[in-house]
Amino acid sequence: MASSNMFRRVLNLSLILSWLVFAMNCRGSVAAAGFTNETDRQALLAFKDLIQEDPLAVLSSWNDSLHFCEWKGVTCDRQHQRVTALRLVAQNLVGSVSPQIGRLTFLRKICLNNNSFHGNIPPDIGQLFRLQFLLLFNNSFQDLGLTLPNLKYLYVGGNNFSGSFPPSMANASGLLELSMSGNNFAGLIPTNLGNLRDLESLELNENRFGSNKPDDLSFIASLTNCTNLRNLIFFENQFGGVLPGSLANLSSKLEILWLGLNKISGSIPQEIGNLNNLYLLSIVDNMISGSIPESIGKLSKLQGLGIRMNNISGKIPPSIGNITKLSFVSAAANMLEGSIPAELGNCTNLQELYLGSNRLTGVIPEQVIGISSLTIGLNLDLNEFSGSLPSQVGNLKNLRELSISGNKLTGEIPSALGSCQVLEYLDLHGNFLDGTIPSSLDQLKGIQQLDLSQNNLSGQIPEFLGKLPLMRLNLSHNMFEGEVPKVGVFNNISAFSIVGKNMKLCGGIQPLHLTACPIKFSKKNKRPFPDNMIPLLIILPIVLLLACLFLIFYRLKRSQQRTSSASLLENEYPKITYAELLHATNEFSPSNLIGEGRYGSVYKGSLNFGEHIVAVKVLKLQERGANKSFMAECDVLRILRHRNLIKIITVCSSLDFKGKDFKAFVFEFMPNGSLDSWLHPTQAEEQGSDLNLVQRLSIAIDVASALDYIHHHCETIICHCDLKPSNVLLDDDLCAHVGDFGLARFMSANTNLSNNAHFKYGMGEEVSTEADMYSYGIMLLEMFTGKRPTDSIFIDNFSLHNYVKFALPNRVMEIVDSTILLEEMEGLNKNRRGKGEFAKLKSCLESILQLGVICSAELPHERMDSGNVVKELHRITKAYNE
Ligand SMILES: *[C@@H]1O[C@H](CO)[C@@H](O)[C@H](O)[C@H]1NC(C)=O
Ligand SMILES: *[C@@H]1O[C@H](CO)[C@@H](O)[C@H](O)[C@H]1NC(C)=O
Ligand SMILES: *[C@@H]1O[C@H](CO)[C@@H](O)[C@H](O)[C@H]1NC(C)=O
Ligand SMILES: *[C@@H]1O[C@H](CO)[C@@H](O)[C@H](O)[C@H]1NC(C)=O
Ligand SMILES: *[C@@H]1O[C@H](CO)[C@@H](O)[C@H](O)[C@H]1NC(C)=O
Ligand SMILES: *[C@@H]1O[C@H](CO)[C@@H](O)[C@H](O)[C@H]1NC(C)=O
Ligand SMILES: *[C@@H]1O[C@H](CO)[C@@H](O)[C@H](O)[C@H]1NC(C)=O
Ligand SMILES: *[C@@H]1O[C@H](CO)[C@@H](O)[C@H](O)[C@H]1NC(C)=O
Ligand SMILES: *[C@@H]1O[C@H](CO)[C@@H](O)[C@H](O)[C@H]1NC(C)=O
Ligand SMILES: *[C@@H]1O[C@H](CO)[C@@H](O)[C@H](O)[C@H]1NC(C)=O
Repeated sequence: MASSNMFRRVLNLSLILSWLVFAMNCRGSVAAAGFTNETDRQALLAFKDLIQEDPLAVLSSWNDSLHFCEWKGVTCDRQHQRVTALRLVAQNLVGSVSPQIGRLTFLRKICLNNNSFHGNIPPDIGQLFRLQFLLLFNNSFQDLGLTLPNLKYLYVGGNNFSGSFPPSMANASGLLELSMSGNNFAGLIPTNLGNLRDLESLELNENRFGSNKPDDLSFIASLTNCTNLRNLIFFENQFGGVLPGSLANLSSKLEILWLGLNKISGSIPQEIGNLNNLYLLSIVDNMISGSIPESIGKLSKLQGLGIRMNNISGKIPPSIGNITKLSFVSAAANMLEGSIPAELGNCTNLQELYLGSNRLTGVIPEQVIGISSLTIGLNLDLNEFSGSLPSQVGNLKNLRELSISGNKLTGEIPSALGSCQVLEYLDLHGNFLDGTIPSSLDQLKGIQQLDLSQNNLSGQIPEFLGKLPLMRLNLSHNMFEGEVPKVGVFNNISAFSIVGKNMKLCGGIQPLHLTACPIKFSKKNKRPFPDNMIPLLIILPIVLLLACLFLIFYRLKRSQQRTSSASLLENEYPKITYAELLHATNEFSPSNLIGEGRYGSVYKGSLNFGEHIVAVKVLKLQERGANKSFMAECDVLRILRHRNLIKIITVCSSLDFKGKDFKAFVFEFMPNGSLDSWLHPTQAEEQGSDLNLVQRLSIAIDVASALDYIHHHCETIICHCDLKPSNVLLDDDLCAHVGDFGLARFMSANTNLSNNAHFKYGMGEEVSTEADMYSYGIMLLEMFTGKRPTDSIFIDNFSLHNYVKFALPNRVMEIVDSTILLEEMEGLNKNRRGKGEFAKLKSCLESILQLGVICSAELPHERMDSGNVVKELHRITKAYNE
């Protein structure tokens, strides 16, 4: 597994562990009492004492001639002069970790990864109640012996622990969550885990547990006593044996059952329908046989079903149509037979359906091929489907990948296929399709790969294929005839293929070595053209000439219009030259690069001899679309004025010294960088502090106010279309300014750009203020959970939105960014505020997350509008501060 995964797991562990330990401290004594800066110095020296080898001499600076806050790898808090971070990554250190580390009570980060530390992790680390980062991976830490009887959350994922499952674990009877994923643990799981009556989550994935023997899974029976079990995850191990029937007797609260990538045999228990709270069932890549039980239809909350790469046979039960929440089905590479039940068409939330490499027969039901919610992929490859492709395929208006290759489809390609306008990948090869390529396919404006080879298609190869953004095109082994186009994909000999039976082709680019096409005009007459064509031959050039002149004139005029906002902007602001910007940014030196986007690079620059610090966004004009983005941004910036939008100083549109076009914006410099860098500091960034609850709320209000302004209070409605934390910048006072209007769109009907209103993006949703609110909702969830929507835990359609939605309201404290909790709990503790205050905190966080969930609702009309979001956030802030 990728190290970033390990990193994340370690992070989760330490966050939760520290939160837990802190919670225990709240009840007992405050551990920090009595410790001083001198304690820190002593503890660091004790740490140094146990380092046996230090080949890079990093610790040589750890001596009395320097204050310990200046020792290499040590970061202090300015106010108290206490150690907040100990960071000695990849320094080839050899040694063990001194238990004295437990006395550095202000520590937030311990990063000792990529060294050769050995020995135990000192249990004293448990005293570090502020600890947020515990990075110990890629060391030689050994056999894990944390036997804390009060432990509730134990996350030791992402280390290199080996040995067997610690038998003492069953004695930690208060345990709620246990994660040991991503280590080298081996052996059997004890069969007394039923003692852990309160256990809610057991994660053993990515280890070497199991022995590939029959009784490997006998521990599952004992887990039936854990009546609160929600997650059981043990994919990627070496479990063998038969899937026990007791699986169906696990707690009916079970939500996730994930045991893929093992060597488990047997069949899915008939009573699986008992687990009626399951939302993910994944047993992929095992040796499971038998059929899919009819009772699966009772899993009414199931969203993800993964059974691919097993030996599952029999028919797909029609009851599957009762699982209307289902959004992801992966059943490829099994031995499923019979036809697809039409009832599957009732699953109107299905986004991905993979049934390739089975033995499915019959026609493809129109109800199924027409499931309009399919967005990501529909794959029916390598089965035995017959009949024609139903025209309902045209319902797949938001689908990106469609593949039905290797079947027995007959008839023509339905022209309705042209309605699938976001298709990027279409594969129908290896069928018996006949007729011509329908002209409607010129609508496939996003198509990148098209394979129609090995069919009986005939007629001409349509010219329009050369105008689509195809990167690969395969038309081989058909019966095409006539001229091969020369442009687009046909201009690159290695990007397309027309070999095989296509005997009657001619023309095309030279490397094809086809015969030239016959000239279309008849050669019977001696004169090249018949008499009656002569007037035409005279008139035609004149008409063409006029048309050209008109076009040139029109384009000139248009381009003048298009540049007008740029020059307007230029006139409005002080002029700045290419040379000045070159100088200001130290010749666009990489050390001044502070941001990089698709269409531009942002440099820090200083004007007027350093008096004025600015951000210079240089457009990457070689990128397709960069020019358009520049114009869009000019158009927008010209009319925007708001305290929460990034302020433009000037714009530069000229030539560089090589005579190439150069375009740049000069913005106010934001000393505190982007919100993204605060939410997700990289290991390299030693951020002094984290954003607390009130700061985050205030940023959320700033951004919502900016949206409210562009949505409701400008001359015309503007959509930002690219709202995300990296486009929210923070000034000296942490006041937020929304930037990067490169993808922004006007929505009003009477401006030049109104035709962009039909531009689609993301999930195929049209540009709208609601789409901005969706991005805002997701950003709000990211700000308060600390999780990126792209985090790898969000898979199989289990999204950030769903993650929060399912946790509300009871588990709000579990999903909130622990940094916020630590900060607030410290505050509560310090001010000796009572129990009511905790409830207030919880209710505040709950309201915010609820708001994020509403704003990111699937249906656009369910999302709150920006004006109301501002009001709601003010209400939440007021309630919390009361
Ligand atoms: C520790 O703190 C005390 C009191 O604030 C201060 O006088 C002393 O210089 C500090 N010592 C170190 C080593 O920072
Ligand atoms: C103490 O550390 C400083 C800074 O690295 C170094 O210049 C000095 O030589 C060290 N002194 C001793 C005695 O090692
Ligand atoms: C562990 O860390 C060392 C030292 O930084 C590095 O050279 C090595 O590649 C790392 N090992 C792995 C498996 O990443
Ligand atoms: C640390 O180790 C991880 C994996 O164990 C590796 O991916 C990473 O590159 C290493 N980092 C350094 C700085 O050596
Ligand atoms: C993990 O431990 C195994 C032995 O238990 C060892 O072979 C391997 O090198 C270790 N990996 C790292 C990254 O330290
Ligand atoms: C678990 O607790 C029991 C009773 O206190 C004790 O006898 C037993 O040794 C403990 N087991 C382990 C493995 O610690
Ligand atoms: C469940 O608990 C009961 C009562 O404590 C006990 O008798 C039974 O053996 C346990 N079952 C399993 C499978 O651990
Ligand atoms: C599941 O529970 C039922 C009812 O308690 C019991 O009859 C059945 O034997 C159990 N099945 C297994 C395989 O443990
Ligand atoms: C589907 O659900 C309906 C209503 O709950 C029920 O009557 C029907 O029997 C179910 N069908 C299957 C095949 O499970
Ligand atoms: C489910 O699908 C079948 C066949 O397409 C249809 O007859 C039935 O009415 C549908 N049931 C529901 C509840 O929509």
